Amino acid sequence: MTHTPDKAFYRAAILDPVSPSSWRYIPDGGLLVERGRIASCGPVAAVGPEAEVPPQELDGVLVPGFIDLHLHWVQHAVRGRFHGDLLSWLERHIYPEEARFADPVHARACARAFFADVLRAGTVGGMAYSSIHLEALRIAREEARGRWVAGNVLMDDGDRLPPHPAALLEEARAWGPDGYAVSPRFALSCSAGLLEAAGRLARELGCFVQTHLAESPAEVAAVARAFPEAADYTDVYDRAGLLGPRTVLGHCIHLSEREWNCLLERGCWIAHCPSSNEALDSGRMDLEAVRRHGIPWALGSDVGAGPSVSMLHVMQRFLAVHAAAGVSVTAREALYRATLAGARCLGAGEELGSLRPGRAAHFVLLPWPRGTRDPGGALREVMAGGPAELESRPLGTWLWGRRLAPPA
Ligand code: GUN
Ligand code: ZN
Repeated sequence: MTHTPDKAFYRAAILDPVSPSSWRYIPDGGLLVERGRIASCGPVAAVGPEAEVPPQELDGVLVPGFIDLHLHWVQHAVRGRFHGDLLSWLERHIYPEEARFADPVHARACARAFFADVLRAGTVGGMAYSSIHLEALRIAREEARGRWVAGNVLMDDGDRLPPHPAALLEEARAWGPDGYAVSPRFALSCSAGLLEAAGRLARELGCFVQTHLAESPAEVAAVARAFPEAADYTDVYDRAGLLGPRTVLGHCIHLSEREWNCLLERGCWIAHCPSSNEALDSGRMDLEAVRRHGIPWALGSDVGAGPSVSMLHVMQRFLAVHAAAGVSVTAREALYRATLAGARCLGAGEELGSLRPGRAAHFVLLPWPRGTRDPGGALREVMAGGPAELESRPLGTWLWGRRLAPPA
């Protein structure tokens, strides 16, 4: 293990999200790290006396490490490779790709590549779907770097089966209630019985739930046919007891007023995945409705439908997609939704997603013109570029005060 200095003092510009509409920008900032945590963060002249050591100069801006609230780590190798309508994309490309994770050697190699790539892209945690295989999930637990919540997808369609309950419980307990997400893949891959069992399991463990909701019109129509007793798609999950404040619903594009109200009443979170929605031509999440109802949400890449693990790319697409529809969006909100909002969803708002004292020293250095007075404009420039290019835009990623990416 690499030696971690007890204390490090950095001088750089600092951009720290506070809320969807505010951030703290310090053009000449100081960040003091002690024993893996942020001890102080402010103008360099104010932090300097406390630091008692000369600062290391960093050429760029420091932001909190990104949180990706929705991705499929087992689709990392094929991200952005396939297109088409959601249901045929899943059947033709994704299910065969995920079936390969029955092989632990393949799973191990993919997990290492995945965690190295997300760290390189500046992501320090989030919520991830694994394949149906418990062994692949265990491997992800061993290889994970950063703060990850994860779960094996539950499916009982075709020849796919959920794992043995005792083995599932053991792996879920190893992740713990703050680390495991019961993950019924989506309504179409689960029987009503499996959805109910998933709801019971989540209550028993007190853990997270993640699933997909109303991503494509064809999916919504198929759910209506498969679950005629339910009022709508959201009701399918509600009847199974899957909706609560620790539930994260991916996409939420084609919802009725009744469904928005239901999500609000249950306290659910939305993982908004604009780059994925563009790639699969799923439609635009109704951001105005989400705002009007006050439903909490954060950004996700949804790799591999999303073409990039870079949250800079997701932020760029968030701004572009909603601006094109005439909705007011800001770089401030993009940064907040890619950091602190996701941390809050994970119940880790006091630990992650901000550079305030006491937080884990998980942060990212991004390129930044010296003396910038317009942080919004500068951040938009940092986000400019293609999906692959942006994965290596960060100049460095630190976890617990250790610079881990790019590799030395
Ligand atoms: N719905 C069910 N499974 C998936 C998946 O793997 N990706 C996306 N984007 N939507 C889904
Ligand atoms: Zn997804």
